[in-house]
Amino acid sequence: MSRPDAAAEWPGIYRVGSSLYTRNAAPGVKLRDEALISDPDGELRKWDPWRSKLAAYIVRGGTPLPLDQCRRMLYLGGGHGTTASHLAEAAPEATIAVVEKSPMAFAALLDVARVRKNLWPILADAQLPERYAADAGPVDLLYQDVAQRNQSAIFADNAAASLAPGGVGLLMLKVRSVTQRQGSSAIVAETRRILADRGFALQDSVDLSPFARDHVAIHAVYR
Ligand SMILES: C[S@@+](CC[C@H](N)C(=O)[O-])C[C@H]1O[C@@H](n2cnc3c(N)ncnc32)[C@H](O)[C@@H]1O
Repeated sequence: MSRPDAAAEWPGIYRVGSSLYTRNAAPGVKLRDEALISDPDGELRKWDPWRSKLAAYIVRGGTPLPLDQCRRMLYLGGGHGTTASHLAEAAPEATIAVVEKSPMAFAALLDVARVRKNLWPILADAQLPERYAADAGPVDLLYQDVAQRNQSAIFADNAAASLAPGGVGLLMLKVRSVTQRQGSSAIVAETRRILADRGFALQDSVDLSPFARDHVAIHAVYR
C-alpha cells in the first residue's frame, strides 16, 4: 500500500479508512488479534476503539492531546497494556510511566514494555503517588483509567504530585464506579467540580458509548 498520512490533528496516529492505526514497534508481533498492514515505512497495527478508551475518545471526536509535544507522561491503570502499547507507538519521543497495581496485569504490561523502551511499568497503587512521583514526574500528560470509586481524588492527587503547570489531564471516568445512586450527568458534573477545585481548567467531556458504556472522558488542563 502507499504511505498513509498521520491524522493531522493526532500526530503519530494513522487513519486507514475509518480505522485507527499506530506504527508497530515490533513488526510482525500482535498483542491480540489486531490487524497488521505493511506500508513503505514498516508496519501499522490496528487500534480498536472497542478495546481502548483512548481510541474511543479519538473516534468520538475528543480534543486532540499534544502527544508530539509531550516528553513525559504518567498513565494510571495500565492493565494489560493495550492502550499503553499504542500510546507508546504514537508518542515515541515520550517516556511513559505506567502504574498498575495488579501483579497479573503487570506481568502482561512488562511483556508489552519489553519491545517498547519508552514504556516504564511501575507496580504500585495509584492512590499512593508519593511512592513513584520521583520516578515518573514532572509530566506533561496525565492519563487515568482505574475504575475506582474515588477516581477524581486519585487523578487530582497524582496531578499535584507529578503534573507540570500547563500539563494536560485525561480522566476516563467510569461513572458507575463512583456511585449507583446518581445519574451519569450528575456524577460528571460533580467530578468536574472537584477537578476545578483541585486546580484544573476543564475542557470537554466526551461520552465514550457505544465503545465503552458508562464511561465519560474528561479533558482538562492543569493550572
Ligand atoms: C480498565 S483496566 C485498564 C485498561 C487499560 N487502561 C487499557 O486501556 O488497556 C483498569 C486497570 O486499573 C487497575 N487499577 C485499579 N485501581 C488501581 C489503583 N489504585 N492503582 C493502580 N492500578 C489500578 C486495575 O488493576 C486494572 O488493570
